[in-house]
Amino acid sequence: MSSPSAPADPTLADAVSEADFLALQRLMLEQSAILLDRRRSYLVDVRLRPVARRYQLPGITELVRALRPGDHPQLMADTVDALTTNETSFLLTPATMEALVEEVLPAMVAGRDPGQPLTVWSAACSSGQEPYSFAVLLREHHRALAEAGQVRILASDLSPTMVMRCAAGRFSRIEVRRGLPSEFLDRYFQRDGRDHVAVDELRAMLSPLVINLVQPWPGIPRCHLVILRNVLRFFPEPVRYQVIERVRRTALAPGGRLLLGSDDPILGPSDGFEPVGPAPLACYRLAEAE
Ligand SMILES: C[S@@+](CC[C@H](N)C(=O)[O-])C[C@H]1O[C@@H](n2cnc3c(N)ncnc32)[C@H](O)[C@@H]1O
Repeated sequence: MSSPSAPADPTLADAVSEADFLALQRLMLEQSAILLDRRRSYLVDVRLRPVARRYQLPGITELVRALRPGDHPQLMADTVDALTTNETSFLLTPATMEALVEEVLPAMVAGRDPGQPLTVWSAACSSGQEPYSFAVLLREHHRALAEAGQVRILASDLSPTMVMRCAAGRFSRIEVRRGLPSEFLDRYFQRDGRDHVAVDELRAMLSPLVINLVQPWPGIPRCHLVILRNVLRFFPEPVRYQVIERVRRTALAPGGRLLLGSDDPILGPSDGFEPVGPAPLACYRLAEAE
């Protein structure tokens, strides 16, 4: 049993005060729609301490005080960047790959107008494992299209740090062990010290961009596939559906596909989408107009 003075929840026994946490929660909602979870406030402390140090601020309270709107745009951007959760992996496990190769890629390729580039948007791509997975699959299974420069993979994230990592295409030994078969590692990545770097042909297929999903989406055309996996869960529910609706109205080509994560909202005709599966993918196409 805990002593009377101990916090009921051990994760609250960290260095972020209630007032600082609430200020950061409000700021993140305004800037990114990310709803910080009080139960995981220890992460705020861990992630913001290096930012405070970089700006020579003694602690989180001083950092929060320095974040008055308009005062320090770079500190604000660095704080938002540091508070994102960037967990990701390659998407090429046997079951996922089979579903993508058998069902999703053929429908996308068939759905585009001849001569039009095949356009994929990985809309919260973190350090890039997701868009590089599609680059690998398209080179493997639609090589002529890829070699003719007819594939465009837009890889965007809110976090400039992640977008830079994605552009570099550099992955650690641990990262390449997660969801990337060794035959593709050998074929499409070169060893550089302890890391593995995507070959030029793969990197050339990607256009890395910083895009905040709750701000304007400059340069996003109508795409044959939009990948929006494992990001909606960080947003309050109304924002999740606003983003999905915006994808439907502005970012999908006719017949385009939307790929969500398995824990993301399940969509149906009332959202303007029909599930097309197959398991284990949460893949949708635009619903037929009534
Ligand atoms: C958990 S990762 C998911 C990465 C990848 N889609 C996957 O499923 O493996 C979530 C990503 O969403 C990004 N993110 C969070 N809020 C965002 C926003 N408002 N706009 C764009 N990206 C955002 C984060 O920076 C982070 O890289």
